[in-house]
Amino acid sequence: MALNICFKAGAAAGKAGSFIPPNPPEMEPLASRHTPAYRAARLFMHGVNLGNYLEAPPGQSWGITCSADEFAIMRSEAFDHVRVPVGWHHYAGPAPDFALSPEIFSRVDFVVTNALANKLAVIINIHHFDELDRDPAGQSEKFLALWRQIAAHYKKFPGQLAFELDNEPHAAATTALMNPIYARAIAEIRKTNPRRVIFVEPGNWGSIDELKNLVLPPDDNVVVSVHCYEPFYFTHQGATWAGPDTKVKGIQFPGPPATPLLPDPSLELKPWVRDWIQRYNTLPTGKNPSSPLAFEGKLKFAREWSDYYGRPVHVGEFGCFTSADPQSRANFYAAFRRALDEQKLGWAIWDWSAGFRYWDKKNGRPMPGMHEALFGTIQQQPAN
Ligand code: BGC
Repeated sequence: MALNICFKAGAAAGKAGSFIPPNPPEMEPLASRHTPAYRAARLFMHGVNLGNYLEAPPGQSWGITCSADEFAIMRSEAFDHVRVPVGWHHYAGPAPDFALSPEIFSRVDFVVTNALANKLAVIINIHHFDELDRDPAGQSEKFLALWRQIAAHYKKFPGQLAFELDNEPHAAATTALMNPIYARAIAEIRKTNPRRVIFVEPGNWGSIDELKNLVLPPDDNVVVSVHCYEPFYFTHQGATWAGPDTKVKGIQFPGPPATPLLPDPSLELKPWVRDWIQRYNTLPTGKNPSSPLAFEGKLKFAREWSDYYGRPVHVGEFGCFTSADPQSRANFYAAFRRALDEQKLGWAIWDWSAGFRYWDKKNGRPMPGMHEALFGTIQQQPAN
């Protein structure tokens, strides 16, 4: 399935439907749908994130191992690509060269070559570069040096390998501050990889709402990647790293629950979380905050933005933590995938075998309902 296959030949870019981007930035729409980016995007339709593996700093393990045969399993499950988060910045020497260690190259090479050998396209990124989020200007030379080296190392690799510049820029790394840094990184990569597809994420954690502030150079081999974890209190219930608002567990998808959820008063929930739970307990599914309503509008906006600017959009992360009940997880992945299919957006789930896992390594099979949710026949939306 190709992105934008429904775009009518001859329709002018910037004139897709009645969509007018709010506060349009100074970015010229690309007129053609026959760009290298659109061709490349077809390789990245149904993917999985190899999360919590190569992001870990040297000497640390976040509990994930990865053997060569797992790529064959990914492929046989019907994934067409794997997104590989990498903590390159932990493996760099001092300024001004920021020389990357052979150790990280050999670990990434293992993943990339085995994925490619199993007919999976691959995205490698820079993940959790927290210093860049705190001080984008101060860290930009390091960021560029990392990409200079990664690009040189992989310049002979096939076109099924993509580079994604930075995972989830946030904090001081606003979209506006990252725009010129991205432009410099793309120029750097183009010196050695004139034809490689490059993925770029807007700020505020790759938010779809930030697309309006993204300004890309006219390079026609760039795919825009966004993340969406809505409905957040459902997908991140029990996720300790996600802050105090995700303490309530037992939230189902879709709401409302048969019996209202009564959170433990000792959790001291913020008023907006209490309000969300109240709406979750009482509203019918079509209006419930734990329902497709939480993401459908955002994905529609991503599609309209994409058509307007002539830039393919990929949803590089969505998913639900395994602390949600298995049936709700399966319902959620199925509904999200249905909405992505409706908008003809490529996607990669978070994640393969870690906390949001697809694959149950212990039992050698997918987690309950996950294969059907992502690759089964699309069910009709239940009438509300
Ligand atoms: C982070 C993971 C996290 C996931 C969901 C990813 O971008 O790298 O650590 O589990 O988002 O919150």
